[in-house]
Amino acid sequence: MELAGKTIVLGLTGGIACYKSAELTRLFIKAGATVQVVMTDAATQFITPLTMQALSGRPVFTSQWDNRVDNNMAHIDLSREADAILIAPASTDFLAKLAHGMADDLLSTLCVARDCPLLVAPAMNRQMWGNPATQRNAATLRGDGVTILGPDSGDQACGEVGDGRMLEPEDIFEAVVGFFQPKRLAGKRVLITAGPTFEPIDPVRGLTNLSSGKMGFAIARAAAQAGAEVHLVAGPSALDTPYGVTRSNVQTAQQMYDRVLADAPHSDIFIAVAAVADWRVREVAHDKIKKTGDADVPTLEFVQNPDILAAVAQLPKPPYCVGFAAESGDLEKHGAEKRRRKEVPLLVGNLGPATFGQDDNEVILFDDAGQKRLPRADKQSLARSLIVEIAARLPSRTPA
Ligand SMILES: Cc1cc2nc3c(=O)[nH]c(=O)nc-3n(C[C@H](O)[C@H](O)[C@H](O)COP(=O)(O)O)c2cc1C
Repeated sequence: MELAGKTIVLGLTGGIACYKSAELTRLFIKAGATVQVVMTDAATQFITPLTMQALSGRPVFTSQWDNRVDNNMAHIDLSREADAILIAPASTDFLAKLAHGMADDLLSTLCVARDCPLLVAPAMNRQMWGNPATQRNAATLRGDGVTILGPDSGDQACGEVGDGRMLEPEDIFEAVVGFFQPKRLAGKRVLITAGPTFEPIDPVRGLTNLSSGKMGFAIARAAAQAGAEVHLVAGPSALDTPYGVTRSNVQTAQQMYDRVLADAPHSDIFIAVAAVADWRVREVAHDKIKKTGDADVPTLEFVQNPDILAAVAQLPKPPYCVGFAAESGDLEKHGAEKRRRKEVPLLVGNLGPATFGQDDNEVILFDDAGQKRLPRADKQSLARSLIVEIAARLPSRTPA
């Protein structure tokens, strides 16, 4: 429950993207948050308070003159209970009101009277977002310490294409979860590999493995939420890129090696989670290998792939290197051995052979001090624990 114990005032203003806030509310509730919805008059034209009440499980506030709050001061009381106010969607009009400290309805008054952080997710047509007045207002809000999430770029409800559309609910959700995380890796550059690799045999066939990328993507998300600048080099994976993470897609171990080695010298931390193929086929056939006869089977000759983790660890000024090991037997022995062989300060051993594709995991950490077990947890919680462990080991390890 990533938001257990948190109360979020979710403000909706008048934009088509109000429909996305229904899904956003569902995500917040599922993560254990209390969601208090407040809507402007215009927002109620786009989605009904009834829908938002049903999803949030609480009555929705729309008017300053609402007498459901005992002292009749909803504009004060609602913000005092909140850990954060999130305006999503935030209209052009509402950004202008916020930037000028206006307070002519419940939501704007609540924002001016708040004593908690304010986040806004703008949602508007590209011309409205590009308008110099809107840009001035956004800059003013940033200067006032307001967190602006997005906006995104792409197809707009009006049929135009450009900047201004609201971030997807999943991205806003991740950004809010991240907002509440301690910034243990602020100012750090983190390079992470994830997923399987794919080594072609011919144009339609290849060798790969069962890695889903879930663990590496979860670590990338946790690192970004801990304030790091994250570059994720991913093998073939259908997973969505975590919010705030820069992703490079690669296919083969050699491509992964090239991307990683280009970036590693500028990174503070390298976390090698990808399940990289040890071997590739010596010569990839130009055309599809044909089945010629019943007894006729092709013979494949393999060559070794470069060892990405060892190569990074051997750089003149290596980043803090974290390796992963998936062993099928005697992890305690092989994990410690592998760490020494790869010459990395920290190695994470997956307990149990069947972690590929699973949603939870259990690991043992191997470092100079010995071993430490992190109990079984879902991969996202485990990723957060790992970031805590890595951050705690950094000061004495980061090269000067
Ligand atoms: C169909 C329709 C769609 C609109 N979509 C948006 C929008 O996406 N973003 C925006 O800033 N304004 C949009 N507007 C204009 C706002 O609803 C209008 O500026 C309103 O006064 C905002 O009020 P509020 O900021 O109090 O919610 C739209 C208006 C209409 C009629």
